[in-house]
Amino acid sequence: MAVNSTGLWRLLRLQHGASIINVSSRSSSWWSGVEMGPPDAILGVTEAFKKDTNPKKMNLGVGAYRDDNGKPYILPSVRKAEELIISQKLDHEYLPISGSAEFCKKAIGLALGEDNPVITDGLTATVQAISGTGALRVGSAFFSKFFPGPKAVWMPAPTWGNHVPIFKHVNMDVQQYRYYDPKTCGFNFSGALEDISKIPEGSLILLHACAHNPTGVDPKQEQWDELSKVIKNKKLFPFFDMAYQGFASGDIARDAYAVRKFLADGHKICLAQSFAKNMGLYGNYYVFSTIWLKDVKGMADRIISMRTKLKENLAKEGSVKNWSHITDQIGMFCFTGMTPDQVEKLTKEYSVYLTKDGRISVAGIASSNVEYLAYAMHQVTK
Ligand SMILES: Cc1ncc(COP(=O)(O)O)c(C=O)c1O
Repeated sequence: MAVNSTGLWRLLRLQHGASIINVSSRSSSWWSGVEMGPPDAILGVTEAFKKDTNPKKMNLGVGAYRDDNGKPYILPSVRKAEELIISQKLDHEYLPISGSAEFCKKAIGLALGEDNPVITDGLTATVQAISGTGALRVGSAFFSKFFPGPKAVWMPAPTWGNHVPIFKHVNMDVQQYRYYDPKTCGFNFSGALEDISKIPEGSLILLHACAHNPTGVDPKQEQWDELSKVIKNKKLFPFFDMAYQGFASGDIARDAYAVRKFLADGHKICLAQSFAKNMGLYGNYYVFSTIWLKDVKGMADRIISMRTKLKENLAKEGSVKNWSHITDQIGMFCFTGMTPDQVEKLTKEYSVYLTKDGRISVAGIASSNVEYLAYAMHQVTK
């Protein structure tokens, strides 16, 4: 089963005015028991960034791609698709409940490879949801209702912040397995294997298909092969979240390695896909064309080059710390290994904004400020 994402559906629904929920005033006694949700950590970082008047300030908190001038980037393929959509003068008829069949076919083909036997033998069921978060929401509700195994999901520690509340909302118990090793700023392979081998048989396990968020740490291909074996032996059901296909390495097949390998090994899987990051469609509709393959590689390459430059500049600053994890990690984020105190100093004294866990969005770095960032990071970590 795959749950795919696009904002198109949301856009249409909003035009029809059908997806806005109105409730009576907050002071009404009906809603007096409603608790305030937790503040959004990332938006808080952005608010503080906006208020800062330092001309050298940098916002490395938000996970949205920026060009080398620090500006939001509209992919040329997306612009082209926008023109096509407008020129086709499409109607605004309702889509079926499961979304656009054509979109679903393209999306699953992109994930698995169009000639994957799972697709050609008709063994997939794909539905369209509202972006990656919506896909996870629909998928988690499906598992809560229909999964015959224990109503628990095992997630990597740490994982993307929204994974936990999404599964808790559907009354699934959330458990974790070891993933990130703070000592090496890399993958804790032996810890993950040990923990996964103790998960009760028939359970649900969540895996980040590539560019793990927030750590940027991915298993190597041979480690995925081993994980696939252990997960199969334990009869676990893999639920892949793939929010960065193509964005990690610039190669869509390479980034889909784990998903395709698990299928080749005979697993049945669930896959949540997002096109927010790899198409720069954070709140808009989707596109898929050959120009996009070039665009996504361009974004991945710029990020990879910023990682190299940051590491080189830290060495130039005279940092004797081992920063090899900056280039070993992959995708939009780098888990720098900086402590909360160091992060606080970086923000207060150098106007560099990031989340307290030391995660930086590498997409927020540009050629013009990578030296400054290296300088500031060296100052707080030496
Ligand atoms: C691991 C992971 N899953 C899902 C998502 C959600 O994607 P979307 O923005 O499409 O809802 C993100 C976005 O940050 C993510 O990092």
